Amino acid sequence: MTRRRFASTICICLFVFSCFSLTVVSDASADLAPVSLHCEYRVDPLGVDTPEPRLSWKLESDKRGQLQSAWQILVASSPEKLAADQGDLWDSGRVESSSAGPIEYAGKPLTSRMQCYWKVRVWSGAGNSSDWSSSASWSMGLLEPADWSARFISMRDDSPVPTNPKTHHLPPAKYFRKQFNVEKPVQRATLYSTSLGINEMYVGGKRVGDVMFAPGWTDYRKRVYYNTFDVTDQIDKGENVIGAIVADGWYSGYVGFGMLVGYGPNKIGRNIYGKSPCLMAQLEIEYEDGTIETIITDPSWRVTDKGPERQADFLMGEYYDARMELTGWETTSLDDSSWQEAILSADNGDWPVTFYESGNKYETNLAFIRPATLQSYCSQPVREIERIEPIEITSPAEGVYIYNLGQNFSGIAEIKVKGKPGQVVRLRFGEMLHQDGRLMVENLRKARAHDYYVLRGDPKGETYKPRFTFHGFQFVEVTGLDEKPSLDDLTGIVLHSDTPLISTFECSDPMVNKLFQNVVWTQRSNFLELPTDCPQRDERMGWTGDAQIYVRTATYNADVAAFYTKWLDDLEESQFENGAIPGYAPYPFKHGAGYGTAWLDAGIICPHTIFQVYDDLRAVRRHYDSMKRLMDFRASVGKDYLGTVHGASWGDWLSIDEKTPIDYIDTVYWAYSAQLLAEMADAIGETDDGAEYRALREKIKAAFAKKYVTADGKLTVDTQTAYVLAFFMDLVPEEHRKAAGDRFVKKLMERGCRMTTGFLGTRPILPVLTSIGRHDLAVRLLQSHEYPSWGYEIDNGATTIWERWNSYTREGGFHSPGMNSFSHYSFGAVCEWMFRSLAGIDTDGRGFKRLTIRPLPPTPGSNPDHKVIDWVRASINGPTGLVKSSWRRTADSFELEVTIPAGTEATVYIPTVDAKSVTEGGKPIGADTVGVRSVEVTDGEAIYSVGSGTYRFKASL
Ligand code: BGC
Repeated sequence: MTRRRFASTICICLFVFSCFSLTVVSDASADLAPVSLHCEYRVDPLGVDTPEPRLSWKLESDKRGQLQSAWQILVASSPEKLAADQGDLWDSGRVESSSAGPIEYAGKPLTSRMQCYWKVRVWSGAGNSSDWSSSASWSMGLLEPADWSARFISMRDDSPVPTNPKTHHLPPAKYFRKQFNVEKPVQRATLYSTSLGINEMYVGGKRVGDVMFAPGWTDYRKRVYYNTFDVTDQIDKGENVIGAIVADGWYSGYVGFGMLVGYGPNKIGRNIYGKSPCLMAQLEIEYEDGTIETIITDPSWRVTDKGPERQADFLMGEYYDARMELTGWETTSLDDSSWQEAILSADNGDWPVTFYESGNKYETNLAFIRPATLQSYCSQPVREIERIEPIEITSPAEGVYIYNLGQNFSGIAEIKVKGKPGQVVRLRFGEMLHQDGRLMVENLRKARAHDYYVLRGDPKGETYKPRFTFHGFQFVEVTGLDEKPSLDDLTGIVLHSDTPLISTFECSDPMVNKLFQNVVWTQRSNFLELPTDCPQRDERMGWTGDAQIYVRTATYNADVAAFYTKWLDDLEESQFENGAIPGYAPYPFKHGAGYGTAWLDAGIICPHTIFQVYDDLRAVRRHYDSMKRLMDFRASVGKDYLGTVHGASWGDWLSIDEKTPIDYIDTVYWAYSAQLLAEMADAIGETDDGAEYRALREKIKAAFAKKYVTADGKLTVDTQTAYVLAFFMDLVPEEHRKAAGDRFVKKLMERGCRMTTGFLGTRPILPVLTSIGRHDLAVRLLQSHEYPSWGYEIDNGATTIWERWNSYTREGGFHSPGMNSFSHYSFGAVCEWMFRSLAGIDTDGRGFKRLTIRPLPPTPGSNPDHKVIDWVRASINGPTGLVKSSWRRTADSFELEVTIPAGTEATVYIPTVDAKSVTEGGKPIGADTVGVRSVEVTDGEAIYSVGSGTYRFKASL
């Protein structure tokens, strides 16, 4: 999209350049402090498997106008060497650069298992050196296949592949263990573990780490992640036990809508990748005397399926029989003679089956396949993030108790119960209640989402929470209790990928504040191992259309650099032979045509966003060939530089009353992808490609104008979505922008200022209104409470973003329960505009190294229905540090407090027609205003170049 212009577009361009450059402070004390050291986007990661890990930091300063002019990194092989300032692995020397990362390690070659300790110091613009930062670390993973001596092991499984697609097949979790002896003092112990299926590891009687659903979801036939844990403190002298509990997870459990539509082996919807879970673990113990002992999974391990998790499935839930707990199984106290010998997974033999998927069936084999690639887990894992206390209990029928947690989220419930041995307590989960108070579960489709707890009968009471499932819910229905439970007998536990939350947003409209909270909760609920579409029903897939719409908002709300680094690999892995990117990634089975326009463009839009927000050139290089293949595919289906109807026809999904033709959408997305790939090609030096993609874009733009733009500047496809996509992708010829913009606004107003847009059209609608000079209308849409609008959902009780604008109404109840998620992030993509245009925070170029602060207050009285927003307070702790923008508008003044992180600069736009009235810190801006330089005055804005620090601007309006 072209840069937006403020309402008055005739720029007077006075160019009031002051004759001084940005004033910097230069007293001799440390100007800058490097903090928040990250390696591969994480803090002190273990098991990094990229040979040149990327390092980055943030800068702090209590002075204004601080830029970094140089850095020096030391990487040492021991903490002692680092403390003595010896970078025996890498001493970068002083490198003249303002970048605080990501910087690729460029020292001695790194090999498997190396421990690396590092620190950095920086020089300011005035040439003052900082102190060394605190030290940080990373360790290398297992880089070569030969580093693995462990084997995949399984429990012997003689059972046939189920054949009945109508009933549940829910095998118990498997417990694996092995005893070993430690006689010498331990220097360090590292566990590398993975599974086909999901695992929890135990060493020395204790759970290892706090990762849930390890090792995550990949196409296990090709690739699997492994986790690395430091378990030094968990090894005891003498006899020890290493163990694991392994459940089906995505490997052999129910996945997506497989059961609903009859996909998978024998149409059963499960066992998508294999029949029986497999475990591989390698515990490397380094003794103080320098010797190393390695404990590996092999047939000497013992295994049983007689543990308490009788069922353990993501979609269906867990059935936990506490009477079957294997007390002491993770310690030496258990006699495991009744357990079986584990076998090599390959020895489970063959399970030939017919695999069914959309319009297709083929013969395959569910036998164990060792994934060719073992990759270190490179994202923040799923963890327990927060505990939520219920706000009320209701009882719609005798013995039925429903807890209301007050918030829709993804996770599990922990329950405290008392009762007889064998008593069964059932937990059902739902996002909503029916109007008569019953739990609403129709929208879960085939996701049973029941957890069962069978009591052991402890008179002191017992507590249960599941390990191998999660649900999307606000309400928990409990049955099977002897008496009414109390509020504190149940706690909600929020689970998601532990991507740090970085944003705040508040303004004068309480509904918009709630909207922001709802967007963040929906992101949290769906960023669980992959960007899912929803956490509750039998889907939870990485739908690519949703992902590309939302990815930029995601980067405003959380640090998702590592999360997307991982998912971009999953995305590329799912790419079809013909270059198309499927409708979802990972891609367990084909659905419909498998891919569709705008969904497949996630293969370019998502890497581009990560490249842009995090200055991530590696993501571009890594996925460059895949992106080119995708563009080749686009060229193969395009005709005369116009898009065509191909693949699935999701189009502007869930639009209202207006359908935008697929070939139109395909054309604009083709142009958009060409433009983004051209930028990325240039950035990595592939300038010939860059020129080619730019030329392609121009040709598409010309073909678009010819086919879709009339002589009087209207579009032949007369839908709101057609207009906003054309503007957003910058395809409206300059001379027709005014007419096309007017037509679009007319259409909008003819509908009473209401949207008809679906997933594709809603993301750009407010940005486009702002860019065509109708920002007041954009704010009016944001603040609307009329159907369809964000306010309408909130008035009807939303605590998350709904899949449909009318998923539920207080008068009409539920709409289309079969496809009606109450936690779908796509319409939440409006949040990007809230930060960029309302708060005014954006990166200028790549990586937030230079910022744009351009808050756009709406005109007082411009909204006939509501008091317009007259203040905003927002912040993001972005890739280069904390950015804040808070403004307040009165009838005749505009105040802005802005914080720019050390090491960066910003262009700050103050809306005013009287540039002379602008003050900073209560004083007119002049040569003595530290950190501020006047750049330009237009007829609507005074523009300043501002260094790091906090500034308080005030202007007359
Ligand atoms: C998903 C969507 C997805 C769509 C494809 C739905 O079932 O929940 O979010 O993009 O299918 O049209």
